[in-house]
Amino acid sequence: MKNLTADELRDMYLKFFESKGHKIIPGASVIPENDPTVLFTTAGMHPLVPYLMGAMEHPAGTRLTDVQKCVRTGDIDEVGDSAHLTFFEMLGNWSLNDYFKKEAIGWSFEFLTQHLGFSPDQLSVTVFKGEGVEGEPGYIPADEEAAAIWRSLGIPDERIYRLPREDNWWGPAGTTGPCGPDTEMFIDTGKPKCGPDCRPGCHCGKFIEIWNDVFMQYNKNAEGKFEPLGRHNVDTGMGVERTICMMSGAPTVYDTEIFAPIMAKIDELSTVTPEDAELALRARRIIADHMRTATFILCDPKGGVKPGNIGANYVLRRLIRRAVRYSRFLGIAPGFTVKLAEVICEKYKHVYPELAVNLETCKIDLEAEENRFNQTLDKGEAMFNKVAEQLKAHGQTQISGKTAFKLYDTFGFPFEMTLEMADKAGLTVDKEGFEEANRKHQELSRTTSAGSFKAGLQDNSEVVTRMHTATHLLHAALHKVLGPTANQKGSNITAERLRFDFTWPEPMTAEQKTEVEKLVNEWIAQGIEVTKKMTTVEEAKKEGAMALFGAKYGDQVSLYTIGDVSKEICCGPHVTNTKELGSFKIQKEQSSSAGVRRIKAVIGNM
Ligand code: ALA
Repeated sequence: MKNLTADELRDMYLKFFESKGHKIIPGASVIPENDPTVLFTTAGMHPLVPYLMGAMEHPAGTRLTDVQKCVRTGDIDEVGDSAHLTFFEMLGNWSLNDYFKKEAIGWSFEFLTQHLGFSPDQLSVTVFKGEGVEGEPGYIPADEEAAAIWRSLGIPDERIYRLPREDNWWGPAGTTGPCGPDTEMFIDTGKPKCGPDCRPGCHCGKFIEIWNDVFMQYNKNAEGKFEPLGRHNVDTGMGVERTICMMSGAPTVYDTEIFAPIMAKIDELSTVTPEDAELALRARRIIADHMRTATFILCDPKGGVKPGNIGANYVLRRLIRRAVRYSRFLGIAPGFTVKLAEVICEKYKHVYPELAVNLETCKIDLEAEENRFNQTLDKGEAMFNKVAEQLKAHGQTQISGKTAFKLYDTFGFPFEMTLEMADKAGLTVDKEGFEEANRKHQELSRTTSAGSFKAGLQDNSEVVTRMHTATHLLHAALHKVLGPTANQKGSNITAERLRFDFTWPEPMTAEQKTEVEKLVNEWIAQGIEVTKKMTTVEEAKKEGAMALFGAKYGDQVSLYTIGDVSKEICCGPHVTNTKELGSFKIQKEQSSSAGVRRIKAVIGNM
């Protein structure tokens, strides 16, 4: 393997595909133009959708190649491991109804082995295993053609994994549009398998995906059906950071030359090393990742995304605030966001000149947001200190669950920070008591009058409101897919995710999860109005409303109706149109307790 820099890799890739008849085109903005279905550009295909659909001819021809800045925050909780990033550069080559599988896979293999120097033995690949029953509607055959091409290139069948839609189907980028089966290329890091089921796609870090060739022969229409596109497109994406990582043998993407100056700056600014080694590691990485993403968003030539409470603005706010929160673990002084933006600009400005052009305004926005969040945290800390003093004055060493809950509920102080500060102050926290208080609070919320029905909401911020509406759609979708016995048992929403417990005796199948997700996304795409009216429980029930938890509601209750999809007695708040949710994704489905399943899901950009 060669040890290339990102600059060299971009260059080699574009030249390689140029030599195969491709035209090099400029990458697009990370803030999508005219595409309300996504908050950010998540792949190089976004700007090419009309051409992939065949709606018009691309001026540069039918073979294109480029480097695209991408933002994906669906995996934000995984950031800090060895390979997940919220911003990355994607190298891509496209066939607009020109070449197909044989050339695409052949060139991927040629570039990986002959130009980058990977050994074929390091490669494992996946192909779509097909779904449905032949002769019936919805049938899509297994991609044996792709498998045969890989075999002809010398990849043995035991390293060709056949996986379902969840793993081997790409797109559409939004809720409708071009999509199709893909074949993904993984580098085996040589680490031992984490278990008997470990395979490409497993998150343990043994197999790292670096490239994906998508064969876009289908269009997902507004009814959620896959119809043949009548064209054979290829859309590929190779991740720059991961490829450089695998080539250099670095243990993580953060240990590559790409991140070197950013990590060095973080280390220079750090004044303490947390005792918890895992936290020390994650904090550096989270700060580096989030600041890189925030800098690219704020410097984007299209502009217009600022820290805020809605949509893309909220994602940006969350990235900056998370970086600030983690900076505290490392004892980094305020003002660091601006310093890191400068380093990031320096590293990338020759490739992305917009970074230099917009750096000054980016710094103003970063500084303002960092200050705002620091003020919130400072208030929370002051409250904590008061509590700690009082306890000590009474010779006590434990913060009660109730107090920890008050800090969290009333002052918005993250529970993790209470734990961390308590630790520093030589105090303990009654964690169980906190959970208990949280649980009681939720139960109380559910069973008191409609006026205080809060359904476990953390606050009424915009994102939580959106998640709350998503919860109603999820509940309705579960009823549709699993039937009326899949009833809500609990709900808890934070700004990060929604959690929904419901009665169901067994794990949901992959198909059921996909179906539920699909339904919710369709309802979002349909832009259904959400209406509220005041009525009585009796009347609401007559209309078929779901009344939750056997709650005792007051006389007058508010009834939220989402078209003919959902009707629930609930105090809100809710968005006014399902479009505001952006998109919906189930992250986990697991057991909660006997006979109760728990879904964790996120909304927004994926
Ligand atoms: N659009 C494909 C992806 O992002 C290549 O993986």
